[in-house]
Amino acid sequence: MSSMIGRRVAVKVPATSANLGPGFDTLGLALSLYDDVTVEAVAESGVHVNVRGVGEGEVPTDGTNLVASSILATFAAVGHDAPGLRIDADNRIPHGRGLGSSGAAVVAGIAAARGLLEGIVHFTEEMLLGIATELEGHPDNVAPALFGGLTIAWTTPTGPRHKKLMVHRGVSPLVLVPETTLSTRRARELQPSQVPHEDAVFNVSRSALMVAAMLQSPELLFQATEDKLHQSYRASAMPETAALISALREAGFPAVVSGAGPSILVLCDGPGDRLEAAALAERKSGATWRAEMLAVDFKGATVVAIP
Ligand code: HSE
Repeated sequence: MSSMIGRRVAVKVPATSANLGPGFDTLGLALSLYDDVTVEAVAESGVHVNVRGVGEGEVPTDGTNLVASSILATFAAVGHDAPGLRIDADNRIPHGRGLGSSGAAVVAGIAAARGLLEGIVHFTEEMLLGIATELEGHPDNVAPALFGGLTIAWTTPTGPRHKKLMVHRGVSPLVLVPETTLSTRRARELQPSQVPHEDAVFNVSRSALMVAAMLQSPELLFQATEDKLHQSYRASAMPETAALISALREAGFPAVVSGAGPSILVLCDGPGDRLEAAALAERKSGATWRAEMLAVDFKGATVVAIP
């Protein structure tokens, strides 16, 4: 432990959009909007967190802070005592909007713990995903936050697994962020425990198509983003989101709920379409929605030692 005191690491974690329409709890995409976190191992026991930007003055600044508790959980998972921690978080990923902010906080904590334990513990990708999924509850946001790109995540009796895929360069994500928030737990409560077989088949076909559309045929994104498993069940909890998605899809744009909402992800097949979609969204919804034209992040979480 004493060898660790004084170590400082800088972590950068991307926002993520889960589901991508049909791929409920399975597909996820890393986006070029980041939280930056610096963590120092200090001799003094306890945890002190300083938050700037999103969540400043709102999220806890002690050991119950999600980044801090994820660092502590990671040390516990590998059987090491955690040092005292000084954490500085510079947050840009909006909270409660379906852009993976909690997954990003979990992954920031895990990446920081990995950096502090460099040369002491070797983490495999499976270990990182296993710890992250245990803390987050489902793997579809934490997989792209950890590894970047488009990820397929699935669970097995011995833990979660993922496959990272590169994305066709024409895919141009537009994220529309409302002022309102929605908790993932509330959105999940609206899901039925059973769905019609034909709806399941519908989503199997669209999810398979989605992988082809994202990798090599972006012109198929409109059909590939169709879904019958979650968005209609949750629409009552985010009526403005549902209305704006309908307007965008009627105009031919591949719009879906981002994660559990209420943000919208439009997966345009070129930058020009993205400008048109943003203009349509502004006309329909007014200035209360923020439009973010983002790139796909291909790196995922990074951690570097600060000398
Ligand atoms: N797949 C999850 C859901 C993502 O839609 O509930 C939420 O973070």
